[in-house]
Amino acid sequence: MYKKLKVGIKDCSFGNNVTIVEPVNIYGCSIGDNCFIGPFVEIQKDVIIGKRTKVQSHSFICELVTIGDNCFIGHGVMFINDLFSKGGPAQGDKTLWKRTRIGNRVSIGSNATILPVKICDDVVIGAGAVVTKNIEISGVYAGNPARRLKK
Ligand SMILES: CC(C)(COP(=O)(O)OP(=O)(O)OC[C@H]1O[C@@H](n2cnc3c(N)ncnc32)[C@H](O)[C@@H]1OP(=O)(O)O)[C@@H](O)C(=O)NCCC(=O)NCCS
Repeated sequence: MYKKLKVGIKDCSFGNNVTIVEPVNIYGCSIGDNCFIGPFVEIQKDVIIGKRTKVQSHSFICELVTIGDNCFIGHGVMFINDLFSKGGPAQGDKTLWKRTRIGNRVSIGSNATILPVKICDDVVIGAGAVVTKNIEISGVYAGNPARRLKK
């Protein structure tokens, strides 16, 4: 016996000219004009994505994430809102979840992991980076933990 839940597009708000390549699992989120969402992407409820932002295949954008305009989210980028701050998963206790805010013109390389942080405008995050702290100065960041490579 098993319970089968379907992926799909549910209760989202879309701007004009949004392209989505199915299958996706996106629900309760808001996606601005001219965005592109690639296949096998999950976007959870209350996520807000600005205009002209591209989300490439296999990325996961969790609750409490906001992404600005003209951003590029590469393939397989993982956002995190639960830091296991009590020694394990929050088990649905959303008071333990933390927020992420991504500015405008932020490009995130494939397979990067973004912990709950703020990233300012005009930032590049390298492939495979793990961003553990707020980024307040524009530039190129890479590595685990992510550090600034150049301005
Ligand atoms: C981070 C990035 C933007 C840097 O590019 P760049 O400015 O041309 O940097 P360079 O190639 O000159 O590398 C500079 C140094 O950073 C290192 N570096 C580059 N990218 C890195 C990465 N992702 N993680 C860790 N180190 C990295 C290089 O090894 C080099 O180290 P060294 O000085 O010790 O030799 C680029 O390497 C990157 O990761 N781009 C992401 C692309 C992507 O994911 N696209 C998705 C669509 S396909």
